[in-house]
Order: sequence, then C-alpha cells, then structure tokens
Amino acid sequence: MTLGNSAPERRKFDFIDVLSAAKSTGKLNHLLTVALRLKERYRATGRNEPLAAGKTLAMIFEKPSLRTRVSFEVAMQHLGGAALYISPAEIGLGTRESVPDAARVLSGFCDALMARTFAHATIEQLAQYSSRPVINGLSDHSHPCQAMADMMTVQEHFGALRHLTLAYVGDGNNVARSLMQACAVFGLKFRLAAPEGYHLNPADVQAVRQVYADFDFAAETDPRAAVRSADVIYTDTWVSMGQEDEKAARQARFASYQVNGDLLAAAPAHAKVMHCLPAYRGAEITDEVMDGPRSIVFEQAENRLHFQKGLLAVQIGGQ
Ligand code: CP
Ligand code: NVA
Repeated sequence: MTLGNSAPERRKFDFIDVLSAAKSTGKLNHLLTVALRLKERYRATGRNEPLAAGKTLAMIFEKPSLRTRVSFEVAMQHLGGAALYISPAEIGLGTRESVPDAARVLSGFCDALMARTFAHATIEQLAQYSSRPVINGLSDHSHPCQAMADMMTVQEHFGALRHLTLAYVGDGNNVARSLMQACAVFGLKFRLAAPEGYHLNPADVQAVRQVYADFDFAAETDPRAAVRSADVIYTDTWVSMGQEDEKAARQARFASYQVNGDLLAAAPAHAKVMHCLPAYRGAEITDEVMDGPRSIVFEQAENRLHFQKGLLAVQIGGQ
C-alpha cells in the first residue's frame, strides 16, 4: 500500500488559458461541440444529462462576479452535481494558508476547482498542486471561459468562425488577450483599437503567432479603422477589477473609444456588438448600442452557462 496522494485516474485537463489548452490537448473544438450539443438538447427537451452526478466543484473568488459564479453553479446543478462558493476571507489564500496547501486540500474534497484571482500565477500554482482539474474563472492575465463562450455565440450567429473579423475596441486587458488567443485558434481575424500604452503586450501576440503562424492580427489607435470590416465589434470595461485607483485617468484616455452609434456607422451593417459584461453604460458603450438591434450581449451572457456545462462535462463528466 502506498500512502500519500495517489495520482488521479485520468490525466487532468486544466483550463488555464485558451492557448495552453489548444496546445496541450487540442480539445477546444471538442469543448465547443459538447457545449453546443448540451445546449441544443436542453433547449429542445428542457432536460439535462446527469454527467456530474455526485461531483463537486470548488469555486474560489478573490474578486466579485455575477456571470461566472452563477453560471458555474447552475451548470453543476444542471449536470447533477454541486458547487461550493468560497470567499477570499474564508481560505485566506497565501495568508492563512499557502496556495499549494489549499490546492492539495480542496482537490482531496472536490472533483474540480475554479478560481477567480488577481495574480495569474495563483491559478497556475493551484493547477500545479491540485490533483483535480483547475479552471481559470478570470485572472489579471486572461478570461478563457469568457472567450470560449464568445466563440460559441459567434458560431451560432454566423454559422462558422473561420475568416470572420472580430474588432476589439478598448483596453488590451485579460478579456482582449483571451479573445485574441481564441481568434487565432478558430481562424478569425483580430483587430485591436486602443490608445497608445493600452495595447496587448507584443510578447503575448508573438506567443500566439509561434503556434498559429497565419494568425491575422492588427493593432491600431483608430477605432473607426479597426471596425471597418468587422463582423463583430467587442468591448469591455476600461477599468478592470483592481484598477479602481486609475479610474479617472482611464476614463479620460479611453473617451474616444466608446462603442456608440457613430462608431457603428463606420462598421458593416451586419456587424454584431458584444460585451463580456458588466457594462458601464455611458462609458465604453452607450445604452443605444447595448439595447439596440445589433447587440447580442445577453445571448453572449447566457452562453456562459452553456459553455461551462460543456467544459465540466469534458473535465469531470467523461465526455
Ligand atoms: N463576464 C464575467 O465574467 O462576468 P462576472 O465578472 O460577473 O463573472
Ligand atoms: N476586464 C474585466 C472583465 C470583467 C468580467 C475585469 O477584469 O474586471
């Protein structure tokens, strides 16, 4: 008999960022297929498959959340399992208990871990020490579950992903980075319009190009030029969680990057508008656009649930 942590029966599939998932497992197409199938069945019959019956997801949050928390919790309920919300004060990650110890303990109790953190390194460390799959529920670096649900939404609207153009207008942040990676993986062109100093790090773009040499990426400062041939116009808050001290400076710097009626007039008439939410109406996006006929933001939000179900079905449900 061997004492200590035994190896998990199946190789665990951590979902830390889009690029690493695409590189290490090639599972991203499969994830979208499973998510779309589960959604279709749920829509048609109102029923779910008990793929996670008796299983538990631990959800660690260092930051607030509406969509990520609720969609994972509902996803586990739909799949017949349970989810536990763990607030930062409860664990004291890195203060009351080290990240490796928390990962070891939680993965002894639960079948998968999901974490929303400030530092991306915290999620990487959880994955390193957890014997169960770890999911990135947003870090300062990336938001892969958002980007994959977004690909699902674009696929549903356009019938395919390859050769579409997604123009991201705003801060080159965690959401932009994951979208950029997802566009490379699924063959979309990616345009980024941001003020100088707020673009994606060239090293992150280079890392993607090393894997996807034909990735069509362009960055500029002019939002009108970026949306000129866009099929999708995407924006996010100018002030991410943890940047509250920079709010006034950022609002001034990004003022001309608002997604409004004037910007839409510079885009093709068929272009759809997306936002990961929460939206700061009147800042990065106007009411007119958010509530207008080209907005698909609430379908996009709903797909957070359907993608999480696909992800969990693959990670712990044997799909
Ligand atoms: N888009 C998103 O992740 O929303 P929450 O911050 O509410 O989870
Ligand atoms: N960029 C935003 C996304 C919120 C879902 C943030 O990190 O706060």
